[in-house]
Amino acid sequence: MAQKNPQVARLFKDLSKLGNDAFKSREYKYFLSIPLTRKRAAYYIFERSYFHLNRRSCWAQVSAGAPFDIKQHIWHHEEEELVGDKVRGVDNHWVLGMKEGAVVGMKPADFKKPPSDGTRICTSAWSHLAEHAPWLEAISASCMLEIANSDGIIKGGGIAARVGRKMARDLNIPLKQQASNKEHMEVDIVHANMLFEVAQKHVISKEDYAAATSGAENGLAIYRTWLGLMAHDMEGLR
Ligand SMILES: [Fe+2]
Ligand SMILES: [Fe+2]
Repeated sequence: MAQKNPQVARLFKDLSKLGNDAFKSREYKYFLSIPLTRKRAAYYIFERSYFHLNRRSCWAQVSAGAPFDIKQHIWHHEEEELVGDKVRGVDNHWVLGMKEGAVVGMKPADFKKPPSDGTRICTSAWSHLAEHAPWLEAISASCMLEIANSDGIIKGGGIAARVGRKMARDLNIPLKQQASNKEHMEVDIVHANMLFEVAQKHVISKEDYAAATSGAENGLAIYRTWLGLMAHDMEGLR
């Protein structure tokens, strides 16, 4: 039987702390402090649709530079996101976002506008990492976004869970009507494991460990910045 890699437990501990600490940051606190109105929720759901599209591009770019077994992991992850889950009867994640928009009054045509400057800048930064960082750093940057949204890792729940609770509390929209938040609360618990599965075989040396942690820090720094920018824009809406 394959030996357990001791680096994995250490990486899990470090990245769990990184994910939990993000919720103490100014940007996360600011974002979560803004009371939701339908307009603010619609703004977030719209910008998030570009975030989700950019995730698909980033995973494809990470896959392009990664070894064969990593491409398999990514393919498995991306199938659900791009095609949906036929067995569970769940739509692809783009459609889930549009369905969630519909409950706050958005029409499909509302998803055709260009995104905000903040979303443009942050998605470009993520794409840059996915395309140009060494593959272990690049996959770590993408995986960290799932780790920081995993209700299995983040005490008090990830962003999907917390936005879901705010939509329920501030807008009276029960979680079962929030197609995207509800799904991400479930699947990101599993998705958060991907990096640790990858690390079993690929995080061996000190350099590997440093690549994995710096990728995670960089990916999450962009997300933190994006949430701060979203909060600022949302605050200006009524
Ligand atoms: Fe997703
Ligand atoms: Fe995910």
